[in-house]
Amino acid sequence: MKEFEPTIIAFVCNWCTYTAADLAGTSRLTYPKNVRLIRVMCTGMVDSQYVIKAFLEGADGVLISGCHPGDCHYINGNYKARRKIKLLKEILPQMGFEKERLRLTWIGASDGIEFAQVMKELTHQIKELGPSQTKQKMVI
Ligand code: FES
Repeated sequence: MKEFEPTIIAFVCNWCTYTAADLAGTSRLTYPKNVRLIRVMCTGMVDSQYVIKAFLEGADGVLISGCHPGDCHYINGNYKARRKIKLLKEILPQMGFEKERLRLTWIGASDGIEFAQVMKELTHQIKELGPSQTKQKMVI
């Protein structure tokens, strides 16, 4: 039987985590190919609907990652993201998605190694959870 390969959507801040992903790439660090990056200007602009839509369209996991607290280029966008994630973690189980499928991290621009490590950990964690309920219902 074919091993489950999760689809993970990562909304990453242009100024920090996207730059860290770029650094991981130029440093030739490897990380699982399961993660699809969506570059946003700030984690504060990631609407809760984006996360829910990702899950409803088959994502097994969603990551939001941006600048460390105090480093947001738009002053407090990452604090707004943190509040949204807290609420989403309460809503998602009511929709049938384990809250562990959603993660928020802070990865600075110079943290290419940390970026690769987080991608590995997250992919491993989502593999352990198995396919999301949406994916289980999809006929592929
Ligand atoms: S600019 Fe990076 S989280 Fe706001």
